[in-house]
Amino acid sequence: MERIAICPGSFDPVTLGHVDIISRAAKMFDHVIVAVLINFSKKSPSFSIDERIDLLKRALHGINNVEVVGFNGLLADYAKERNALALVKGLRAVSDFEYEFQMALTNKILNPELETIFLTTSAQYMYLSSSFVKQVASLGGDISSFVPECILETVKDRLLHIYQ
Ligand code: PNS
Repeated sequence: MERIAICPGSFDPVTLGHVDIISRAAKMFDHVIVAVLINFSKKSPSFSIDERIDLLKRALHGINNVEVVGFNGLLADYAKERNALALVKGLRAVSDFEYEFQMALTNKILNPELETIFLTTSAQYMYLSSSFVKQVASLGGDISSFVPECILETVKDRLLHIYQ
């Protein structure tokens, strides 16, 4: 049986921290579905769903067992539909823990077969978040240490376009 994992998120936009977690998950599972949340509940995304998927595909190019898709609705249901064994998420600092723990327990109730696995983020990405990438880029800062080089110009241009 193929061992399938899902790396879910907003990816608005994908960062080097996300790429690190997804590529490590791809070594542990036969197939990894990177599932991009289509409709944000409160905040409106800076990048459209198509843009976020395109950036992820470019950033993950070369990892053969990874698929990038958009998803709507409950993650627990989507995982069932795709026969996924686990959700794989990165844990940065203690500040992530409570929210992630709440989501993991909620998903466990909704889909008891589904495990949530947390990978410790790599030390150099401890501080990294999509929100800060957007803030730094919008203020003209250098984001080359935060996003993959192959998408750097697209992300920079897009954020300048939004915030100028
Ligand atoms: O990158 P994010 O914003 O932390 O990702 C959050 C995400 C997409 C994993 C979460 O919002 C989610 O799973 N949304 C789908 C709706 C759902 O299943 N909600 C109940 C789980 S708590």
